[in-house]
Amino acid sequence: MLSAPVIGHDRTMSDSLRITGGKPLTGEITVRGAKNFVPKAMVAALLGDTPSTLRNVPEIRDVQVVTDLLELHGASVAYNATSGDLTVDPAGLVPAEIGDVSVHAGSSRIPILFCGPLLHRLGEAVIPDVGGCKIGERPVDFHLEILERFGAIVEVVGDGLRLTAPDGLAGIKYRLNYPSVGATEQLLLTAVKAKGITRLENAAVEPEIKDLIDTLQKMGAIISVDTDRSITIEGVTKMHGFDHTSLADRIEAASWACAALATRGDVFIHGAQQRTMGMFLNVFRKVGGEFDVVSDGIRFYHPGGDIRSIALQTDVHPGFMTDWQQPMVVALTQAKGLSIVHETVYEKRFGFTEALIQMGASIQLYRECLGDTACRFGQRNFLHSAAISGPTPLKAANIEVPDLRGGFSHLIAALVAEGASTVSGVGVIDRGYEGFRAKLTALGADFA
Ligand code: EPU
Repeated sequence: MLSAPVIGHDRTMSDSLRITGGKPLTGEITVRGAKNFVPKAMVAALLGDTPSTLRNVPEIRDVQVVTDLLELHGASVAYNATSGDLTVDPAGLVPAEIGDVSVHAGSSRIPILFCGPLLHRLGEAVIPDVGGCKIGERPVDFHLEILERFGAIVEVVGDGLRLTAPDGLAGIKYRLNYPSVGATEQLLLTAVKAKGITRLENAAVEPEIKDLIDTLQKMGAIISVDTDRSITIEGVTKMHGFDHTSLADRIEAASWACAALATRGDVFIHGAQQRTMGMFLNVFRKVGGEFDVVSDGIRFYHPGGDIRSIALQTDVHPGFMTDWQQPMVVALTQAKGLSIVHETVYEKRFGFTEALIQMGASIQLYRECLGDTACRFGQRNFLHSAAISGPTPLKAANIEVPDLRGGFSHLIAALVAEGASTVSGVGVIDRGYEGFRAKLTALGADFA
């Protein structure tokens, strides 16, 4: 089965689900490649002179957005959804028109990462206005400053940006104010073929970035990562295609694990990897969940007894991921006692709690940093800490998905609640959760 017409989006599916909760999720599911790595490896393929093959690629909408953008630039992409193998051949690369790429404005953050590879290959890059979830301002100032420091000239055109590099791109020394994942990736994808040496300090070191570094190294790049969050890249003039298997999606795995805990269920997740989920596993155990790690996955279950409260804060790797926060908060509504969650990565990532409160959860949001370290949002007007007291029974409600992770959390809340809830706007969840309806069915969820 080659190139599904629209990856990760089945138009025959309804955009709302009616979920009858109160039933433990039990069974087995499989998690494939990471949403926050796969699209970036697809962009990296543009740097090679020969085709690249990426394996373990999930059928999610972000893969479709990047496929469309690659094809608009003359690259050819072949995807076999069953095997998960995706090939990118950049041989026919041509510049795109702003009018064409603009159809993807607001649909994903990935297009900004096309800049470096396109500047190297074509001398110009035209990209749409980037989007992503409504969880904060999510500016691209780090990205643009990095690109300008490398020698790019950035101009605003229509709904997007046009970048050129008349004098080529040359290595830089740069220190990030904050270890941004995307800005670190931007720098890597640009530095690998820039002239000379690039040094980045205060880099993000998420496992998805490590996988991108491994991929670039396979392509011919020279990159070293030090223990102090610094990365050194020696620019090379030629790169070739890669053959790489994506790491598993640790956000998706943790989301299903929280669903298992909150519903007092038992779920085996094929593909889940302990080495990328260490901090999550610690928290999962502390709140009263259990897990067994075996060679091809992890079993997550509720062993009986109370779910326990906890104080935690989100952080960059190796901390507790911001993307694990929303599903864990739903489980914490079922925990005995007062839990505190301090969100330090995004300023507005508690919007999804409004629906939980409507369903009966007791959650209070605070502007103050309720954690042991003050974060960037403490002195500003953002409700970025939450106190959750429980356990509170959740009652069914009609709720609207606010964003990707918040949306999955709403599914968990509906699975916990007594009675039938209607969750609308679930199409957003297809951006990052492969076949989530089929997985709900496999785990015995009651929904239509
Ligand atoms: N930031 C800036 N300026 C920039 C870039 C980032 O101020 O130019 C700020 C952001 O506003 C945010 C913080 O830095 O407050 C961290 O943002 P980061 O750049 O690390 O995030 P990202 O690269 O845009 C990726 C994931 C997110 C994930 C974060 C953190 C992708 C496509 N997205 O975003 O995933 O939460 O890293 O791990 O990789 C998700 O999957 O639902 C999701 C939002």
